[in-house]
Amino acid sequence: MKILVTGGAGFIGGNFVHYMVNKYPEDMIVNLDLLTYAGNLETLKPVENKPNYKFVKGNIADRKLVFDLFEKEKFDAIVNFAAESHVDRSIEDPEIFVITNVLGTTTLLDASREFGVKRFHQVSTDEVYGDLPLDRPDLFFTETTPLHTSSPYSSSKASADLFVLAYHRTFGLPVTVSRCSNNYGPYHFPEKLIPLMISRALADEELPVYGTGENVRDWLHVEDHCAAIDLILRNGRIGEVYNVGGHNERTNLEVVKTILKALDKPESLIKYVKDRPGHDMRYAIDPTKLETELGWKPKYNFDTGIQQTIEWYLNHKEWWQNIISGEYTKYFEKMYGDRL
Ligand SMILES: NC(=O)c1ccc[n+]([C@@H]2O[C@H](COP(=O)([O-])OP(=O)(O)OC[C@H]3O[C@@H](n4cnc5c(N)ncnc54)[C@H](O)[C@@H]3O)[C@@H](O)[C@H]2O)c1
Repeated sequence: MKILVTGGAGFIGGNFVHYMVNKYPEDMIVNLDLLTYAGNLETLKPVENKPNYKFVKGNIADRKLVFDLFEKEKFDAIVNFAAESHVDRSIEDPEIFVITNVLGTTTLLDASREFGVKRFHQVSTDEVYGDLPLDRPDLFFTETTPLHTSSPYSSSKASADLFVLAYHRTFGLPVTVSRCSNNYGPYHFPEKLIPLMISRALADEELPVYGTGENVRDWLHVEDHCAAIDLILRNGRIGEVYNVGGHNERTNLEVVKTILKALDKPESLIKYVKDRPGHDMRYAIDPTKLETELGWKPKYNFDTGIQQTIEWYLNHKEWWQNIISGEYTKYFEKMYGDRL
């Protein structure tokens, strides 16, 4: 199979490229990525010389580039990770989220129709369901939960999902969609909660926690997400949405305290900062459909996964320190500078 992976220089896409290139030497993986601030080719060093891997730099919203690539490569399947993915950035500058996440996705869908792609898989997020109240732990997102977005990021992802499903209904394009909870693990860009806290705790710097830290997220190790996408791509039913999550709900404060404990650092490093506008309270995924239909089972729970992740950051300091020393520092100042 020849598979186009978009956004493969980012966090989850990069992990997915590693997973697929190593697991399926008979398949060809082409990675199309624009290398925005979130794209990092260093993530792909371990696979860059493998014969079943190729990198192409480009924008998924560039129609000519995308159509030329599809014509040349004759892909069997597309897995679309490429996106602007950070909620805070979407509040600062929503437009690029529409261009990449919506227009980029429809460009890929049009090319998939034109060149007869056999499967288009859209990587989406549980954030399209909005949030759940903290006092109703019995409620979970299922695939039929209405879309009810909060941020420009989640609105752009929900729009893309609707286009993907409409291309199935209207044009018969063979699509699947996965909606996953928060991921963590190796190669996570250090603007996101877990790597941000690990890197700052290691440097004995203050750890900014939004509001009171009560917001609940459902954490899934990135490798379990990659395995789920692989299963859906090969065995998922056409036109279907699958939720992906491992029932690992933790408040942000619990996550930060777990990291501090594992690194033997004091809780006095925690610094509460002004909350993000429209901050979602709780996300919690019901993955029953994926488990019962496709036999998916996560390999990690939060306790084993966070331990593995902390060890990875300790053993790969160069990877994340290179990021922190560049553009990221300026970004951090802009987002948190006046809140600390
Ligand atoms: N991170 C999570 O916890 C999470 C959870 C569920 C779903 N998702 C979804 O998974 C996907 C990947 O998320 P991530 O956290 O790895 O994101 P990321 O920000 O780490 O990576 C995004 C990648 O897309 C590339 N990209 C951005 N704009 C592009 C464009 N116009 N053309 C081509 N490439 C472009 C970037 O260079 C980067 O390599 C996203 O679609 C996101 O919505 C993420």
